[in-house]
Parts: sequence; structure tokens; C-alpha cells
Amino acid sequence: MDLYEYQAKDLLAAHGVPVVAGSVINDPTKAAAVAAQLGGRVVVKAQVKTGGRGKAGGVKLAADPADAVSKAAQILGMDIKGHTVHKVLVAAACQVVEEYYVSFLLDRSNRTFLAMASIQGGMDIEEVAATKPEALARIPVSAGVDLGKAREIVAAARFPAEVAEEVAEVLVKLWECFVAEDATLLEINPLGRDGDGHIVALDSKITLDDNAAYRHPAQEDSAVVDPLEAKAKALDLNYVKLDGQVGVIGNGAGLVMSTLDVVAYAGVKPANFLDIGGGASAEVMANGLSVILGDPDVRAAFSSTFSAAGSPPVTRSRTELFRRWRFSVRRRPNRWSYGWTGTTWCRAGGSSRRRTIRW
Ligand SMILES: Nc1ncnc2c1ncn2[C@@H]1O[C@H](COP(=O)(O)OP(=O)(O)OP(=O)(O)O)[C@@H](O)[C@H]1O
Ligand SMILES: [Mg+2]
Repeated sequence: MDLYEYQAKDLLAAHGVPVVAGSVINDPTKAAAVAAQLGGRVVVKAQVKTGGRGKAGGVKLAADPADAVSKAAQILGMDIKGHTVHKVLVAAACQVVEEYYVSFLLDRSNRTFLAMASIQGGMDIEEVAATKPEALARIPVSAGVDLGKAREIVAAARFPAEVAEEVAEVLVKLWECFVAEDATLLEINPLGRDGDGHIVALDSKITLDDNAAYRHPAQEDSAVVDPLEAKAKALDLNYVKLDGQVGVIGNGAGLVMSTLDVVAYAGVKPANFLDIGGGASAEVMANGLSVILGDPDVRAAFSSTFSAAGSPPVTRSRTELFRRWRFSVRRRPNRWSYGWTGTTWCRAGGSSRRRTIRW
């Protein structure tokens, strides 16, 4: 689960990492009071779960509270790579002298953690990584990050001597946060050096491990803001919103993934991934369907379920889907096309038959 910047900032602050003061708002008029409280000069930042906000015009400096209102009005409602901005963070503007980059992440291919650091941080770190890989230090982390390990990272990235010790101390706190919050990615870009020579996290990205979500119930509730995702989570469904028009429902992640491919191969785009899991009851199927049909982008739905004969729950759940689906057709005749495509019935003894109806 990716956190918004303002959520990541709060987590970092709770672990003693120096961050910039600020508040999140969804109404531009509220920017004035926040800016006044922060001393007038602020940075207004789009809160969306995608990168490149600054280059897209989603990060703007405001000179005073009135300007903060106008910048917030410009950014709220903006579309950044398909993400609509519903909230902005109004943060105190720092005098930034230098911008660095630090991150910890789960390095799955090497079965360890990885620390990355660079003294050439800021908005173009991806370019630095691609064109000057030597400017981005990569240090495997297998036994945690104490001050000694943090100094090793700082030395590998060649941080200036004046800030080296402070950066090392921040790295230890970042690692504590990474472990305590069950993160798989914690990235600070930029880690700024302010006019007083102190280190402060100016932008952060944190991804939490969904498998550990039960250990952080408060975090989970606050992070899910999309009403459909929230509904799917509450119903214990594995749902991911995509940007197409064909709702997809299936049992088993592999089958759902294959179905997404089949839908795309047919020339239309899937609207979601929804796995109702093995042995799903009629109720679970109906819940899944209600999530799919709650998506205003969905123009048609595609069910792909697999079950052996003698697996009554899945068969019943198909019947329930069929019944409720028709109900939807009757209720909203102009909107729903009806289809029952690609359902595979596997009979005991290995024989199978396929029923396909196209819409
Ligand atoms: N509080 C702040 N005070 C001064 N400058 C800031 C502040 N926050 C951000 N900046 C400046 O704005 C730049 C872009 O901000 P930020 O890193 O938050 O967005 P971004 O990197 O464009 O977004 P993304 O992380 O989505 O790619 C920073 O590199 C920094 O120079
Ligand atoms: Mg950034």
C-alpha cells in the first residue's frame, strides 16, 4: 500500500525524522490560515500517488497566504498522470541549499534490503540513476542500520563532511521507521540541507507491506480513500482498480490475470482486477459484483470462474451472479450490456465444456 506524502510525513515525524511542518487541506480557502500559521511563505503540493508532481505543475511556491489560496485553487482538481488532485499539502517553505537522495527498499531478487543514497537528489534522480549510476550508492543491508552502517552508507555516497554525521543519524531513524512500520520502500527525495546547515526530509514516499496491514489498522483505514477500494477492503476482497471499461471477476489470482489478458486481447480494456478467491460463496460473488458495478467506468462485466463439479459453493455463486446481474440489466437498461462469457466448467473425470455467449 502506497501512502500519500502527508501520511508518510506524519509517520516519519512520529519516528523522530526531521520533516517540514504542514497541513493537508481539500478546500483552497483553508490554505490562507495554514500559510499564516507557517509564516506566510509555503509550498503547496498535490497529494497524488504518482511521481513527477513538480514537473506536472503540482508543486508550487506561494509567497504569502493569499498566494497560497490561489496556488491551492490551481492545483486542486488538476489531473496528474490520470490522478485527480483532491488534497494538497501546504508545507512551510525551506531555504534549500542542497538536495540529496536516500532510500531503503526490499531487494527481492537478492533476498535482502538495499540502501540507496546520492548527493545529487531532487526531481531528476531517475535520470541520475540512468546516466550516472556511479552517483547513486547502493549498499545491501542484511543486519539492520545502526550508526556504523549509516556511516558506511554516507561514506559510499560521499556526503559532505559538514552534514555526514547528521545524515547518518537521520538514516538510523529512517531505518527504525522502515522496520517498525513494515515498509517495503521508504524514499526521501529530496533530503534537503537548509540554510542553517540542518537536514530535513522535504518529500517522502513510503510503501507498506500489505501482508502486515493487520499490524497497522489505523494506517490502513486512513490510507484507503477511494470509496470502491475501501468497500472492497471492508468486504475482504482482493480488488485493484484499472483504467478500462470491462469489470473482471474471477477466482484465483492467476485466472484473473489471464482473464485481464484475454479481455485486452479482445480489444477492450479491463476496469479492474478482482479475485474472489477459492471456494467463494454466493455472497462473496455478489459482494464482488457490487464492487465492480459501483465503478462508474464499467460498461460491461466479465466473469471467469473455475470449479470442479461437486463444488456447489462456486456453482451457486455463479447462479447468484447471474441472478443479480440480470437484476442490474432490468434496473438500468441503458447502461448495462449483459454477457456471460468465458466461464469454464470442469467436470469430474476430466471432461470439460465451455459455454460462451457474446455481448
Ligand atoms: N517545503 C519545501 N520547501 C522548499 N522547497 C521545497 C519544499 N518541498 C519541495 N520543495 C522543492 O520542490 C521540489 C519538488 O518537490 P517534491 O520532491 O516534493 O516533488 P516531486 O519530486 O516533483 O514529486 P514526486 O515525488 O511526485 O516526483 C523539490 O526538489 C524541492 O526543490
Ligand atoms: Mg520528490
